[in-house]
Amino acid sequence: MGDVARRLAVLGSTGSIGTQTLSVVRAYPDRFQVVGIGARRGSDTFLAQVQEFQPALVSLSGPGDFWDMTAQPVSLEEMASHPDVDVVVVAIPGLAALAPTLAALRAGKAVALASKEVLVVAGRLAMEEAARTGAPILPVDSEHNALWQCLVGERGRDEVARLILTASGGPFRDWTLEEMAAVTPAQALAHPTWRMGPKVTVDSATLMNKGFEVMEAHWLYGVLYERIGVVVHPQSIVHSLVEFADGTLKAQLSNPSMTLPIQYALTYPERWERPMSLRSLDLAAMGPLTFEAVDEEKFRCFRLARRAAESGDTYPAVLSAADEEAVALFLARRIPFLAIPSLIEEVLSRHTPVTSPSLDDLLEADAWARRHAHQYMGVALS
Ligand SMILES: NC(=O)c1ccc[n+]([C@@H]2O[C@H](COP(=O)([O-])OP(=O)(O)OC[C@H]3O[C@@H](n4cnc5c(N)ncnc54)[C@H](OP(=O)(O)O)[C@@H]3O)[C@@H](O)[C@H]2O)c1
Repeated sequence: MGDVARRLAVLGSTGSIGTQTLSVVRAYPDRFQVVGIGARRGSDTFLAQVQEFQPALVSLSGPGDFWDMTAQPVSLEEMASHPDVDVVVVAIPGLAALAPTLAALRAGKAVALASKEVLVVAGRLAMEEAARTGAPILPVDSEHNALWQCLVGERGRDEVARLILTASGGPFRDWTLEEMAAVTPAQALAHPTWRMGPKVTVDSATLMNKGFEVMEAHWLYGVLYERIGVVVHPQSIVHSLVEFADGTLKAQLSNPSMTLPIQYALTYPERWERPMSLRSLDLAAMGPLTFEAVDEEKFRCFRLARRAAESGDTYPAVLSAADEEAVALFLARRIPFLAIPSLIEEVLSRHTPVTSPSLDDLLEADAWARRHAHQYMGVALS
C-alpha cells in the first residue's frame, strides 16, 4: 500500500481490541485514516473517539444520539462495505460480528479479524466468500497471527505437519474441580495475562476460547483438526508454533501484547516500529518457559468444542450460541461456573444437525440453541 494512508473501519471501536487498534492509528497518524467506527452504545468513549478521529461514518447498533455529530450514521454492514474503506477491523464479540464480516468479504475488503465467533459459526461460508472476491482475512487473534508469521515465506500447507496453539491456561489452571465449583464472575474475569472484554475472558477461563481458536486455525489455514494441537504455556511468551514436514518447529515470541498482532495485521507485508507499549523480550532475564497438556477432564468446554468442530455441520454454531448464553447467565450469577459446560453439552446433545448449512440454517441453529439454553438451564443445574 506504499505511502497512501490505509483507510480503516473499526467495528467494536470502544472495546479492548478496538481501543488498541486506535492506539496503533494514533502512533502512525499519517499512515492510517479512520473512515468509520462502530459500537453498541453512544458511550463517552465512543463520543471521544468521534472527536479525536473525525470519522466520516459512525454506527451504533444500540441506543445512541448522533445529533451533535457531523459523521454519517450507517449500519455496520454499510460501513463494512463502504467504497471509502480499505480494511475492516472486526472486533465485536459473538454472532453480531457475522453479518458485517460477510458484508466486508462480499465487497472484497481486507478484514482484520479479531472476532473468532465468525469462523466458528460460519467458517466455510466466510472462507468461500473470501476466496470468491479475493478479500484477504488478516488474523488479529494473537495465536493465529503467530501462525501466520510462522507461515510467511513457506511453500504451503502440504509442508505443514502440525499447528500448535498455545494457551495461557487461564486463572483456574491449578485449581481443583471442587475449587472451580465456587468460582465467582469476578474471579473468572481476572485473567492472569490478558486484559480483554468479559465474554472472551470467561471463554479463556473455561478454555472454550481455545476450542474456538482450533476451529479458527482450521478454517484460516486449511489444516485438518487432527493436525492442530494445543499446549498450555502459562507465561504467554510463545504465541503459537508450526511444525513442518522436515521436523522443524517455528514459533513466534514476544512479551504478551495485542497491539503487536493488530499492528502486524494492519501493516502486513511491512513491519513497522515496535508499539510503544511493547517491551523488548529479554531472553536471559525471562525465566523458564513451560509447556503442559490441556486437562480435558477439568476443562470440559475445550473437549466439547473439539467434538463440535469434528462433527461440523451446525454443531459449531450451536456450541457458540449456547456458550454465549451460558456465559451471560454465569455473569448474571444465574448459573455457577461449572454449569457452563453442562448447559452447552445438554443443548448440543439435543440438536439435530443440518448438513452443508446455508447462512439461514446457521442463523436458525443459533436461534434454536439460544432458546434451548434457557429451557435446559434447570437440567444443567441439577
Ligand atoms: N481482547 C482481546 O485481547 C482479544 C484477543 C483476541 C480475540 N479477541 C476477540 O475480539 C472480539 C472483541 O473482543 P474484545 O475483548 O475487544 O471485546 P470488548 O472489550 O467486550 O468490546 C466489544 C466491542 O464491541 C462492541 N459491541 C458489542 N456488541 C455489539 C453489537 N451488537 N453491535 C455493535 N457493536 C457491539 C462494544 O461496544 P460498546 O462498548 O458500546 O458495548 C465494544 O466496542 C471478540 O470476538 C474476542 O473473542 C479479543
